[in-house]
Amino acid sequence: MHDMSDDIQEVLISSDKIKKRVEELGQQISKDYAGKDLILVGILKGSVPFMADLLRQITIPCTMDFMAVSSYGNSSKSSGVVRILKDLDSEIENKHILIVEDIIDSGTTLSYLVDYLKGRKADSIEIACLLNKEEARKVKIDAKYIGFQVPDYFLVGFGLDYGEKYRNFPYVGILKEEIYK
Ligand code: IMP
Ligand code: MG
Repeated sequence: MHDMSDDIQEVLISSDKIKKRVEELGQQISKDYAGKDLILVGILKGSVPFMADLLRQITIPCTMDFMAVSSYGNSSKSSGVVRILKDLDSEIENKHILIVEDIIDSGTTLSYLVDYLKGRKADSIEIACLLNKEEARKVKIDAKYIGFQVPDYFLVGFGLDYGEKYRNFPYVGILKEEIYK
């Protein structure tokens, strides 16, 4: 049987490192949003592992919701086109929105989403991303909470996929070029 970890060139961020960093982010978010009506909005599907871990490190009352968008298809390059596949279940008026995402790359997806949600009178809209690929940015967008700065390689694991695979890896790794070339 094909060993999926053979497709990884290098482990970039270990599961231990992710665990520690997510604890820190949870503490910071719990402080910053104390006394506020907080909704964590996960972007399916990449945010799921990060969302699940972050949520359990938040010690103040909060709720969760999800959106699904599509911008990549099955390729490793962004098409720049964002489609909403699933919208929020909850009303967000007078609530504080924290969008939870796996990675900000070009910034296209999140800048579109933030604009899309801005019309709904939330008290605030901020972003928590596990990974930030600053070098690859094409659209200006800043996350309030960032797990790790990462170089411009194609990464998989901890929610990040290539062709829907590798999301289950407990670490973030660099995918071997031969897999997607
Ligand atoms: P952006 O719109 O270019 O910022 O892309 C954001 C989305 O692209 C993320 O939610 C990921 O699903 C995907 N993405 C960007 N970079 C990577 C990567 O290195 N590996 C896997 N998915 C990525
Ligand atoms: Mg994604």
